[in-house]
Amino acid sequence: MTIQKIYIVGSGQMGSGIAQVAIQAGYQVTISDVQESFVEKAKANIKKKLARLVEKGKLTKEDQETSVARLTTSINLNDAKDADLVIEAIVENEKIKGEVFQKLDEICKEEAILASNTSSISITQIAANTKRPDKVIGMHFFNPVPVMKLLEITRGLSTSDKTLKIAEEVGQKVGKVTIVSKDSPGFIVNRLLDPMLNEAVYLLDEGVATVDDIDKGMIYGCNHPMGPLALTDLIGLDVLLAVMEVLYQEYGDPKYRPCPLLRRMVKAGKLGKKSGEGFYKYD
Ligand code: CAA
Repeated sequence: MTIQKIYIVGSGQMGSGIAQVAIQAGYQVTISDVQESFVEKAKANIKKKLARLVEKGKLTKEDQETSVARLTTSINLNDAKDADLVIEAIVENEKIKGEVFQKLDEICKEEAILASNTSSISITQIAANTKRPDKVIGMHFFNPVPVMKLLEITRGLSTSDKTLKIAEEVGQKVGKVTIVSKDSPGFIVNRLLDPMLNEAVYLLDEGVATVDDIDKGMIYGCNHPMGPLALTDLIGLDVLLAVMEVLYQEYGDPKYRPCPLLRRMVKAGKLGKKSGEGFYKYD
């Protein structure tokens, strides 16, 4: 099957980023959410990002216009009925994702592939909400999607070779390097990255060093493009907490215990860049 129409569930930073790279790659994309204002905001953001690329000479005016013309919005999941591929990028909550996949399974055509951008929830578990587990797969993009080169693909227990091949082809068409992981908690990247970010929050909580020095440590000592606390702000403290909860619960190893400061900050609504404050303050 050739993928032409992609339906994205969730218009947050991940959903918008995926929509942007997909329209630029030539796909017909619908970005959806639960409120008109959310999808309109996402569309405006994508347009702004494309306009910046034109200003920088990285995209022609013509490509900008044809890309924007490929984007539509939706606030009704039933609009996914014509999609060849659905990519879900909503909150990291197993129950909510399960409900969405159950609905998508009823709405979408038989041959459609259902992908999740989950960074931690089991693909096998998500697929169990459908009658097409062979066509359910993890397509995990990285933030900011237009900049980060990786697509981490996860096979659930029943994901078919054909579904994997299609996901890899889509990944390559949107300009990503693809890697494949078994359905294991945290997959590859988050199992490596998130314990390090959580440890940075422990360093802060224990008063070992300041935010600035923790971040400088990894920028100047390890050549990371940004420090772990700034990166946590970018990803979202709630997202990091959700991944650490899954790692801790699934492996039962204390090394994955979410830092208490991380929990407190999430409770206080300090979610990072998206809420205006995390370890740093944002305009
Ligand atoms: N959207 C689109 N483009 C963006 C962007 C965004 N949100 N943020 C930055 N860019 C672009 C800029 O426009 C700029 O492009 P040009 O070179 O064409 O001008 C380029 O990226 C570099 O940006 P800046 O000069 O503003 O800043 P920088 O050099 O400090 O780079 C960064 C910013 C790309 C975010 C860089 O710091 C970086 O790579 N950080 C690490 C990000 C990372 O690790 N992401 C993975 C997170 S883990 C995850 O997402 C998985 C999960 O499940 C939690």
